[in-house]
Amino acid sequence: KPKVSNTMTLMFQDATEFYHHVLLTTNAGRRGLRYARKRKMSDEILEHFQIGYAPKQDNLLLTFLRGRNYKDDDLFRSGLFVESKDGRLFDRFRDRLMFPLGNESGYVIGFSGRRISNDKTVAKYINSPETKLFNKSKVLFNFSEAKKAAKQEGHLVLYEGYMDVISAYKAGVKSGIASMGTSLTDQQIYMLKRVTKNIIINYDGDEPGVHAEERATKMFQKAGGFNIGVVVLPDGLDPDEYVKKYGAEKYQDEVKGAFTATDFFLKRLAKKYNLNNDREKIVYLDEAVKVIAKLTNPVEQDLYIDKIAKAQGVSKASLKANLIKQQRRER
Ligand code: GTP
Ligand code: MN
Ligand code: MN
Ligand code: MN
Ligand code: MN
Repeated sequence: KPKVSNTMTLMFQDATEFYHHVLLTTNAGRRGLRYARKRKMSDEILEHFQIGYAPKQDNLLLTFLRGRNYKDDDLFRSGLFVESKDGRLFDRFRDRLMFPLGNESGYVIGFSGRRISNDKTVAKYINSPETKLFNKSKVLFNFSEAKKAAKQEGHLVLYEGYMDVISAYKAGVKSGIASMGTSLTDQQIYMLKRVTKNIIINYDGDEPGVHAEERATKMFQKAGGFNIGVVVLPDGLDPDEYVKKYGAEKYQDEVKGAFTATDFFLKRLAKKYNLNNDREKIVYLDEAVKVIAKLTNPVEQDLYIDKIAKAQGVSKASLKANLIKQQRRER
């Protein structure tokens, strides 16, 4: 990496190294390391993602950075500290596993810290606050690395969480990125568009995850020019849990077998109806035709009409007649 003179950039680089060093080589970091091992993070993984640990004590980062001659104004502006009523600074992140968040060039601009204690009264993750440097709606975990991997893999894979990106990486899918728990933004979609048009969405397999996949798919479609694949993992598993349970190869198969957006919507739709009941089946088929009517490619339309006809035991001709009606209505 080239030398940069920007104070903030250097401070975040120092903070990253501090947390990483604490995790790997200190007594204060052993709690963090035990947690990382429990999450099956190897040394290679900790190194690659520059994972760290923010110790329990509330002034170690402060002391370290002051020792490097950073001024209090700059320390405060970084968002790495909280100010007490009497104006004193304290480390914001304490007793957390630290995930550095980089900008497009890979320079760290903020952190997300995961709780490692069992204390459910504190947030599972806390993030750096918004600063001039750190705009959450533009942050994508692992983006600078994923961009490189996208050249080989031919796609980017969008995840919910940092641990999902990391486990996918272990499983050989290195083009993973994650927004910060906050839902996907148009700015992020714009960032992705400059890298590839092939996007695979692989959120958690639970209902909130699949619901968010629906929302994200619609956002990509609205932006236009994307090829979307959607992975829906079984039993509500998230990608991290899936890799742990079924291994790398099975996970890669899931990614390769991603649904097209249309297939995904049609499958979601089918789940809402009891298809053994004729009345419900008719409503389903009407709704399915509406989904297919939105497609602009007639070959694609034909493909899904064929699929639905076969799956539901109705004629293609009748579905096509409905499709034509539907398209007239939309015009
Ligand atoms: P692990 O439990 O560590 O495996 O995390 P996860 O990624 O599976 O978490 P989950 O599926 O619950 O949430 C997905 C993402 O939402 C996380 O990676 C975070 O970015 C974000 N998130 C989850 N919980 C919180 C929280 O309490 N506060 C904030 N700000 N973000 C959260
Ligand atoms: Mn190191
Ligand atoms: Mn989730
Ligand atoms: Mn999850
Ligand atoms: Mn998880």
